Amino acid sequence: MYYADEVIEEIRSRNDIVDVIGSYVNLKRKGNSHSACCPFHHEKTPSFHVSREKQMYHCFGCGVGGNVFTFLMEHENFTFPEALEALAERAGVTLPEKGMSPDAKKQADARTRIKDMNKLAAGYFHYLLKTERGENALQYLKDRGLSDDTIQKFGLGFSDVYSDDLYKYLRNKGYRDEELKDSGLVKFDEKYGFSDRFWNRVMFPIIDTNNRVIGFGGRVMGDAKPKYINTQDTLVFDKSRNLYGLNLAKKSRRAGIIFCEGYMDVISMHQAGFDNAVASLGTALTVGQVNLIKRFTDRAYLAYDSDEAGTKAALRALEIMREFEMPARVISLAPYKDPDELIKAEGSEGMERRIEEAKSGIMFEIDILAHNYNQNDPQERTQFQKEAAKRLSIIIEPMERQNYIDSVAKQYGIDGTSLKEAVTQYGISGATRVDTTVFRERSRKSPEEEKEMQQLKTERLLISWMINENSLFDTLKGVITPDDFFEPVYHDVVKELFSQYEREGSVTPAAIVNHYQSKEDHEKVSAIMQQDFDMQVTQAEKSKVITDLVKTVKLRSVEHQMTMAKGDLQRQSDLIMEKASLNKLKVTM
Ligand code: GTP
Ligand code: MN
Repeated sequence: MYYADEVIEEIRSRNDIVDVIGSYVNLKRKGNSHSACCPFHHEKTPSFHVSREKQMYHCFGCGVGGNVFTFLMEHENFTFPEALEALAERAGVTLPEKGMSPDAKKQADARTRIKDMNKLAAGYFHYLLKTERGENALQYLKDRGLSDDTIQKFGLGFSDVYSDDLYKYLRNKGYRDEELKDSGLVKFDEKYGFSDRFWNRVMFPIIDTNNRVIGFGGRVMGDAKPKYINTQDTLVFDKSRNLYGLNLAKKSRRAGIIFCEGYMDVISMHQAGFDNAVASLGTALTVGQVNLIKRFTDRAYLAYDSDEAGTKAALRALEIMREFEMPARVISLAPYKDPDELIKAEGSEGMERRIEEAKSGIMFEIDILAHNYNQNDPQERTQFQKEAAKRLSIIIEPMERQNYIDSVAKQYGIDGTSLKEAVTQYGISGATRVDTTVFRERSRKSPEEEKEMQQLKTERLLISWMINENSLFDTLKGVITPDDFFEPVYHDVVKELFSQYEREGSVTPAAIVNHYQSKEDHEKVSAIMQQDFDMQVTQAEKSKVITDLVKTVKLRSVEHQMTMAKGDLQRQSDLIMEKASLNKLKVTM
């Protein structure tokens, strides 16, 4: 969906950044500035600042920053259109829908109505849990160790023993039978008419990453079968593309996403502090789910049940992870059955330790293989070693391959050289590229990269000064142009700043951030705007600083143009003159 710049800017300007961020974090006001402990990294003293004047935020501790859209993109992990829609709703602005065909519009409306019904149902179930009728259900959840806080956070509820109270409730809210059927909350039977799909169950609302209720899981409060019922697929609910708990996990500051098998596992994990846990919705892990988490993380942990079914599911999940180049580690829960049981027995510390000791996917696979063969029988042992070699052969990176060969040789008492030979025999042909789940640290920078960063920093500083001292737009006009800025994003920003200044006599940095839609670009653009200068410098000092910045930026620009002008002697000599004149350049504030 494409929205015009004016629409985007209107929505931005109608959502005051201090109000919006203030609804997420506890902002303390000090003069013109509002500050708090940063919601994006751990800290004890506040270095997160929000400026009402600039309509931007910035954390001096971890470097995040941006406008009100950036904040929602980072905090809620929204895409740009999602942030836009959320803020439009907040400001009561209706976004134009001109791009939609009548059919698409009808579908969109039907979807909205299902989400609304779900939201009402979730509220109703949650309300029931707190009434006398929900006493048993509440007791059940408490007996399973859930705190009030946790029950609240997951919006847990209770579906009553009456088989049509939700149906009546939603009818009263004005929903028609047809749409109630489509919502998956109600079913129709020739003989009995309309009745609720869920009754006498503890209810788990399933919430997507846009914080909408898209479906439910319902559990019996005893040993009856089936243990769980889930919403069937509807216009808004696609099991294979959603994960239970991801609405919360996407905001986690913990590394990676932990996959569990059950709703209760996710809830226990979150309660124990592992707020990066999710579960698939009663099906095996799907490709759509791995794609979904790619937006939020660069690594996965599997905390599947320790029984045979769980192990099989983990092996299958590893294959999918590999296909999608998502590094994965497997958490061993034995002797406990699932994360919920482990946490009950060993607490958060136990789980934390298990996460640290999690095995890389490939080591886990070889481990399972080892158990399938009788290691005391020479023939079986050979078979095992061959199979292990086959697994190892899919590692492409030579050093990594060697390291894994060493580990496997050591762990299973295999001769390293022969294992290596066997691996080489399998070659790498036909092997899918595999990330063996060693979570890589960011690599160190080369000297060229360092120099590049330095140059970017200079460009950035100069732009910051221009934003802080608008008179520079007059002073630098004709001296420096957008083309002198090497980084494309900076080039565009400077161009836009000059034209804003020309049009309005002042600049609105937060509006420029709107022009970008990816989080990375928001970061980049915002990073330029967030520098605030200590104004205790004298005019002379300022002039000197800015002169130096302008010279550095120009010098690089001229040098670059010289390499581009190879062969054009006239142009070359002009540029040499320009370069020489840079020495004399002096900006006076
Ligand atoms: P508890 O027994 O409450 O601890 O459940 P759990 O969350 O640990 O679930 P379990 O490990 O038994 O099952 C894993 C997941 O599979 C559940 O969260 C459900 O999504 C799904 N599931 C389990 N039993 C059923 C069932 O009978 N029918 C359906 N459709 N799904 C089920
Ligand atoms: Mn369980």
